[in-house]
Order: sequence, then structure tokens, then C-alpha cells
Amino acid sequence: MLLKKNTDNLNLLQGGKVDLAHEAGIFNEYSLQNFNKMIQKGTALINKKIRRAKTPFSGIMPQELSKRFHRLDMERPHDSLDHALAELENLYLNDAVYFHHPKYMAHLNTPITNVSILGELIQAAVNTSVDTWDQSAGGTLIEQKLIDWTMEKIGYNVKKGDGVFTSGGTQSNFMALLLARDNYCIEQLDGCNVQMQGLPEEAKRFRIFTSEVSHFSVKKSAALLGLGFDAVVTIPVDDKFCMDETALREAINLRKDNGDIPLAVVATMGTTDFGSIDPITEISKICSKEKIWLHADAAYGCGLLVSEKYGEQLNAISYADSVTVDYHKSFFQPVACSAFFAKNQSHLHCLTYHADYLNPRSEKIAGTPNLVCKSLQTTRRFDALKLWLTLRTVGPKSIGKAFDSVIHLADAVYSTHSQDPDLEFIHRPQLSALVFRFKPNHFDDHTDQEKSTLNRVNTTIRKSLSRSGESLIASTTVNGCVYLKFTFLNPATELSHVAEVVAEIKKYGAENLQEITKVECIGSKPELFNEYC
Ligand SMILES: Cc1ncc(COP(=O)(O)O)c(C=O)c1O
Repeated sequence: MLLKKNTDNLNLLQGGKVDLAHEAGIFNEYSLQNFNKMIQKGTALINKKIRRAKTPFSGIMPQELSKRFHRLDMERPHDSLDHALAELENLYLNDAVYFHHPKYMAHLNTPITNVSILGELIQAAVNTSVDTWDQSAGGTLIEQKLIDWTMEKIGYNVKKGDGVFTSGGTQSNFMALLLARDNYCIEQLDGCNVQMQGLPEEAKRFRIFTSEVSHFSVKKSAALLGLGFDAVVTIPVDDKFCMDETALREAINLRKDNGDIPLAVVATMGTTDFGSIDPITEISKICSKEKIWLHADAAYGCGLLVSEKYGEQLNAISYADSVTVDYHKSFFQPVACSAFFAKNQSHLHCLTYHADYLNPRSEKIAGTPNLVCKSLQTTRRFDALKLWLTLRTVGPKSIGKAFDSVIHLADAVYSTHSQDPDLEFIHRPQLSALVFRFKPNHFDDHTDQEKSTLNRVNTTIRKSLSRSGESLIASTTVNGCVYLKFTFLNPATELSHVAEVVAEIKKYGAENLQEITKVECIGSKPELFNEYC
């Protein structure tokens, strides 16, 4: 009797658990039918949106879209997935920014491979966390295989180097400077262990050298590492926006004379705005002579690792002590897919913490591969899976060719449009970013007022394009002047798409210039004000 009662309770309990899991919408063997239906609906919605995305953007403004969020009651879910998806269309998909569109030319965002989306689905369904072997098994080995493969491309000795996937270039650059700081302290300051004891007195004098057009994450990292923005010494660039190595040498000497300690040089292999590649061979000579850590930020330029045509531009990257690679920029992968590499695996020790519950020291001794030992993160997405599927189906050669095509496009755009009397280009592209502005030949920018007029015109051009949604471009500032920027990362973008965008830019430019000069002219002659209004 007692036995029967217990069994009933158990059944009840189990039945209740299944019901609870069902109510919470948990994915498991009982939910597969429901899940498959959901996926079909989701796929149908994606198909509809991608098919109908005639422009990369709707042009909506934040204040217009945010109104739709005001009355949402987050405590009351919809009674069907259909309703929730209809809401999602209204709140997100109708006005999303679509990077697969050939007229998206703004930031370092890419269209992604089909199979990488499948990879995202699989990794989400299994929900592997690649911090430890016991949560990931083959996931850990897949990630490590990709780390080793990329190290070979970089030119590192796979047996000596190591790396790990990260959340992006920002995290990888941070890790580089963390390794530079902590290993300097161990090696040069009598075994000073920052991980245990915190920063030494000398840290106030640590200096990081990087070009004036490198990514801002270098400065942010310096601040987070307790060194401060002021620890970053920015080095001038040449007319190609590459770090001036002579200026670097002088800056290092000057800082040393002042009693500062040169800790690291960050060379950029593809700057965010110009795609310029710093002269790493010369920089590495300076670094090895001065015993300074050299980090290569190839967040953007890493596509060259698989390029047959332009790959030689990264030939010397193996001189660097560490490297940042963003597959989500130049390998056509969904965000996030990124990695950090160290030439000498022993330098990664400062990221290791042995937690008894997770990665006890005994497992290290037993040789269990726990990637958490070399990562900043603990729970970590299996971002390697999508890249794995891409490389195992599409293959590295095709990815390299796609990256080559956007470099080729940028060069073709430069050749086609750089003589346009209404445009001023400030560099010939090395990768796929192109900086220029609307500046009609007849319009001088000698005075402050003329400069400010051109700045306003170019700022307005970008806003007008974005408002129309027809195309998206970026902008930046060089020596106080506002410039426009194309970043080409879509192999489907053709010269004819760019010609259409250039025509729009010139149309908006001419209209805005006329408008602004009219207002300025009226501003200086108040008697005309009424007439104009
Ligand atoms: C050269 C460079 N380094 C680092 C980063 C930061 O990368 P993420 O946005 O993946 O953190 C960027 C981003 O644009 C970049 O262009």
C-alpha cells in the first residue's frame, strides 16, 4: 500500500514536471512538434522580410519607433505565437537595418553565410557553453581546432601559441593589453604578480603606443586596466593613414627619456575608418629592440588571412605577440564570432583561475581541456560552430574570394569616382573602406565659415540618405572636416549600386548646399529674411 502511494506520488510529480516544463515553453523531446511548427513560422517570416526588404532601412527615427513601445504590458504575454510575431514585425523587423542589402555601406557589418544561420540555430538548441569540457565536449574541440587553424593562417607555431573565442574585437584588444601589462610585471618587475597583488607603483608610468586612427577600444582598455586614457600615446599617420614608424620611434624615445615605461604597441591591420594597414614589419623591429609587447588588431583586416589575392598584406602579422581576429567582420559570420591569439601560450596564465566547482587544478594536471582557463568569460556561447559549418561547407577559399571582391570594389569605386568634380576622396583604399566628401570644385573651404558649411552639408547628406532608407553610409571626421564613408563588406554590392548612391549623395549635396548658403546669405543680410521666408 505504502509502496503504491509512493509510486502514485512519483507519477504525479513527473506528470506535473512535464506540465510545468510545457507551460514554461521548455525545449525538450516532448516539445519537438511545437518547436518545428515555430521554426516554420519563423522561417516564413524571415523569408517574407528578406524578400520585401527593397531598401536596407525604413528611415524611421528613434522618437517615431519608440512610441510603439509605450503601451506594451510586459506582464501579459500574447495568447499565440502569431500575435507575438506580428508584434515583432511592427516593433523590429519592419524597421530593422538589413546588412544583406547591397546598398548597406555604412559600418563594419556583413551579410552572413546561410549555413552560419543554421549553426546559430543548432548551437542555440543544444545551448552548449564552451567554458569547460564537461559542458561542451566536442564543442571545446571544435573551437580549439578553429583556433589552431587560424593560428596557422597567422603564421604562429600551433604548438607554442594559443587562443580563444571572444565577444568581439573590443574584448580581444583588452585581453592583449592585459597580457602585455601582467607579463611585463612578472618578467620585468621582479615577478610582480598583478593578478594577486594588484597594480605596482610603476603602473603610473606604463605607456601604450597606437596610431591616431586606431580603434577606441585601445583607450577604453587602458582605462579598464587602471592605466587611464592618458597612458595611450597616439602616433601620427602618413598620407595613407598608416602609423608613421619614425614618429613611433621618436615617441618611444621621448617617453623613455621622461621616465615612462613603454608597455605595448598596438598596430592596426585595417583601421576602422580607412582600412589602412600599419607597417608591422618595421614596428616589430622597434618592439623587439625595445622589448615592447606588439599587438596586431586585425579585427577588420583578418579577411586577408584567407585571401589569395591580397593576403600578403598580412604576411608579417606573425611578428606580433598577440592578434585580434573578428570573423564577424570579414568572414561573413553572425555577431558574435571573434577570437584572440597569443604567440606564446604561457602568456595566457593571467586569465586563469581554478575554481573548485568548475575547473579544478586536478583537471589541468589530468589534461582536461577547459577553455575557461584562457578566457575572460565563464559561461560562453559556442560561437565557433557557425564558423566551423561555414568552413566545412563553403570553405576558406570562397570566403577569401568574397573578401577580395569587396576590396576590388572599393578600388573600382575610387578609380571611377575620384575624378568627380563634386567629390573629394582623401585616400586610395587599401581594404574596402573609402572616405570622401561632397565638395564641388567651385566651392572653396578656406575660411571657417566655408568649412562649417561643407561640414553641415555632408552631415545633412548622411542624415537625408538614412531618412530615405534607400542606402546607408557612415561618416567620420578628419582634421575637423566631416567626411562620408563607404564600408564595403557585401560581395553582392556592384559598382552600379554605388553609382546610384553617389548620384543621391550629389543630389542631396547640391540641394543642401544651396539651402544652407541661402540661409547663411540671408543671415548676413537681415533685410532679405522676410523675402526668403
Ligand atoms: C580595428 C577595430 N578594432 C576593434 C574593433 C572592435 O570590435 P568589436 O566591435 O567586435 O568589439 C573594431 C570595430 O569596429 C575595429 O574596427
